Amino acid sequence: MAARREPSDVIAIIGGGVCGLAIGWRLAQAGRAVTVFERGEAGLGATWAAAGMLAPQVEAEPSEEPLLSLALESRAMWPDFARELEEASGISIDYRTEGTIVVAHDRDDVERLRFQYDFQRQLGLDLEWIPGSEARRREPHLARSVTAAVFSPLDHQVDNRKLARALSAAFTGAGGELREHTEVLEILADGDHVTGVRFAAQRLGRRSLAADAVVLAAGVWSRDIGGLPQALRPPVRPVKGQMLAVQMPPGAPLLSHVVWGPAIYLVPRSDGRLLVGATVEEKGFDTTLTAGGVLDLLREAWETLPGIYDLPLVETWVGLRPGSRDDAPILGATDLGGLIMATGHHRNGILLAPLTGRAIADLLIGGATPESIAPFSLARFAPKSGAAAKPAPSASRLEPVAER
Ligand code: FAD
Ligand code: GLY
Repeated sequence: MAARREPSDVIAIIGGGVCGLAIGWRLAQAGRAVTVFERGEAGLGATWAAAGMLAPQVEAEPSEEPLLSLALESRAMWPDFARELEEASGISIDYRTEGTIVVAHDRDDVERLRFQYDFQRQLGLDLEWIPGSEARRREPHLARSVTAAVFSPLDHQVDNRKLARALSAAFTGAGGELREHTEVLEILADGDHVTGVRFAAQRLGRRSLAADAVVLAAGVWSRDIGGLPQALRPPVRPVKGQMLAVQMPPGAPLLSHVVWGPAIYLVPRSDGRLLVGATVEEKGFDTTLTAGGVLDLLREAWETLPGIYDLPLVETWVGLRPGSRDDAPILGATDLGGLIMATGHHRNGILLAPLTGRAIADLLIGGATPESIAPFSLARFAPKSGAAAKPAPSASRLEPVAER
């Protein structure tokens, strides 16, 4: 365990995505001197590419129960988080609560959906099995081929792009420093504790900032930051997602709920855009939009919602989900004193933002790992036996960071 150090109040956060900004906002609110380093513009990484679904229930999969409890805890925080953020930033983030409908067309789909529904109900989730006719009553533009559906009233959505803008405004409004176009080149350490970061900024050139804690929230780029010891490189990889948007008629949206088809989801925005997502591809850092990707999305979307056929296609994009080895986030202290992980949020970074912000800020302020994130430390990936195995840092305490 790292030796005790004098508490200080300087925190550097690497990455101005939803995770870095949410953590920064909570720390700035608590009076800490916190700088978010963003090599481009804040909120334009995976955060910008997402669909903004807050959907732990319909995304719950067997063997992911620990992730589900984290996600449910974060979802419960969303209504207050949204209200507080809108007040603090003056920016509406379009948090919508109509809920989510998952539809099935043919016999295969229905069997699969029934299996998933039974599993999710066993976990105590609030879901309703409805016939196709009832799904169409709730969403009249759904295809006639929809024969059964599951309604999830508590799986909501938010406009993730507005969310990022609001978080940036709330963070700087609370006194945080946002350094855009500033790339962190290296995490600095004096052996057993971080001492700051070295960065490159336009016009300023290469500089460093002394800091007592460094939060690694660089999304899919988290493992490539200089100065990270090999054993502390988080096992995060890019999981490519292609998406597109069509424009619904003004004042006559085709959908009001988020709708999942067998291989796509449809997310209606209040400005009339309808998002169609997303592919899930293992292609490294490739961000090419492909004909096949768009074809699959459009075909599947059309089968569920035939009315999209005549709508103008207004945007296509590609994002990289920061996937970890077990698809759950990597959160908390590490064996290097003052180095905190907040990465690997994969398909759930928007959903997990309120919890990530609160838990990592609490860890930095109070010094103890909040119980909810203890199972998600980097240490879970350490070799299980042999000399290289290390104790879980979640059991250790961090030095508290003093009030400014
Ligand atoms: P990012 O948003 O990628 O931010 C990391 C930032 O770090 C970037 O801005 C980058 O420029 C910066 N950075 C990197 N290296 C450096 C450096 N050296 N110095 C300074 N800055 C650096 N999640 C949901 O909850 N719901 C959804 O519906 C959903 N849909 C998705 C759909 C798609 C197609 C994709 C791709 C993702 C989706 N996600 C969704 C996942 C979600 O987008 C991510 O989990 C989340 O945005 C991760 O946030 P982040 O802050 O960790 O990463
Ligand atoms: N959570 C939706 C996605 O990652 O595509």
